[in-house]
Amino acid sequence: MATTSDKHALPSTQRAWIMERRGAPDKALQLREDWPVPKPMAGEVLVRVEAAALNPVGYKFMGLLPNFIARRPLPAEYDFAGTIADANGSKYKEGDSVFGFVEVLQSIKTRQGALCQYVRVATTHIAPRPAHVPPTGAAGISLAGETAYQVLLRSGGLAWRADGSLEPDQSIFVNGGSSSVGAFAIQIAKAKGAAHVVASGSEKNAEMIRGLGADEFIDYRKKPVHEQLAEHPPSRKFQIIVDAVGQTDPALYTHSKAYLAPGGVYVTTGYHPRGMNMQEITLTVKHAAATIWPRLLGGTPRKHMVMALKNREEDLMDMGEMLAASTLKPVVDSVFAFEDVLKAYEKIMSNRAKGKVVVRVDPGAE
Ligand SMILES: NC(=O)c1ccc[n+]([C@@H]2O[C@H](COP(=O)([O-])OP(=O)(O)OC[C@H]3O[C@@H](n4cnc5c(N)ncnc54)[C@H](OP(=O)(O)O)[C@@H]3O)[C@@H](O)[C@H]2O)c1
Repeated sequence: MATTSDKHALPSTQRAWIMERRGAPDKALQLREDWPVPKPMAGEVLVRVEAAALNPVGYKFMGLLPNFIARRPLPAEYDFAGTIADANGSKYKEGDSVFGFVEVLQSIKTRQGALCQYVRVATTHIAPRPAHVPPTGAAGISLAGETAYQVLLRSGGLAWRADGSLEPDQSIFVNGGSSSVGAFAIQIAKAKGAAHVVASGSEKNAEMIRGLGADEFIDYRKKPVHEQLAEHPPSRKFQIIVDAVGQTDPALYTHSKAYLAPGGVYVTTGYHPRGMNMQEITLTVKHAAATIWPRLLGGTPRKHMVMALKNREEDLMDMGEMLAASTLKPVVDSVFAFEDVLKAYEKIMSNRAKGKVVVRVDPGAE
């Protein structure tokens, strides 16, 4: 455990991957050695980052956000695990192991990011890291994990008992069980007592998806998922459909009457067009239109929701407790060296990663 004198030994500059301009990671990013080490403000701590994890929103904003919003240069990415370098009078102590994230809009406001040796962050956005979970595992939990958590617990689709446990017979469909959000959604659903979880993926990932706790697997490459679900509907219709891949095609939603319960909800993590071609743009517009078309005029008779993560400290803490109890486990696709960040981006941008793409910021991090 570090001593308080470490606080005074903090360097004034650090190594950091900085977004210098808008564009793809190889154009936008520069590894700088002279980025200032920030000082925590009221309600914040300074974290010495051991590992960081990438999220699709990282490269999406890198390529999309105009400079007058992003105000580059700006450190990249959001998710991290590390140790407290300056507890700043908080409930944490220097040397404590934590995981957490800088919320996307907060990153712009506070000028902080995770691909740095040091990050200042609100104490509401970190949780203690259990000793048996290595930093490279914990780094990827927060953003995708809390999104999955909130889809399941805060979208209103599932029925809960007063003691916080799920009503019996609740069933869930996860579209994209090998994605980061999907992999966490399967585990959290089972940890909270879901009776039946069905998940889609490609055959090569079937074993992984079943290993996460899915009771049934659907190969999305064999036939459209909505057709497979309509042909073999669940014995009790789903209470939640989680679209964890952000598909533009609205079919899974527009056909959902056949397999989503009347009080259930279809929750997507957003629309993620595969390229800016006419087909993807048309599907995205159709999807958005399908969500607002009135039921009286033939619209889909099921609730639709786009989930935008809004951090709650108690949700992050609950996930920390699930990690401690091993009812939630990290799902790591690959770990890259700090110098190889561009290769890490190639991996996540392939859209084929099975769980988190992680970057070892401290070369000695487990
Ligand atoms: N709204 C929010 O707050 C929020 C938060 C987090 C993430 N998101 C969004 O959620 C989406 C998922 O993020 P992520 O980090 O979980 O992505 P990810 O881990 O990079 O997803 C990659 C995985 O998706 C699978 N996949 C791709 N297309 C699929 C399909 N049609 N059906 C089933 N599986 C498919 C791939 O498996 P195969 O190789 O088998 O295709 C791969 O394993 C992104 O659009 C992201 O921006 C939103």
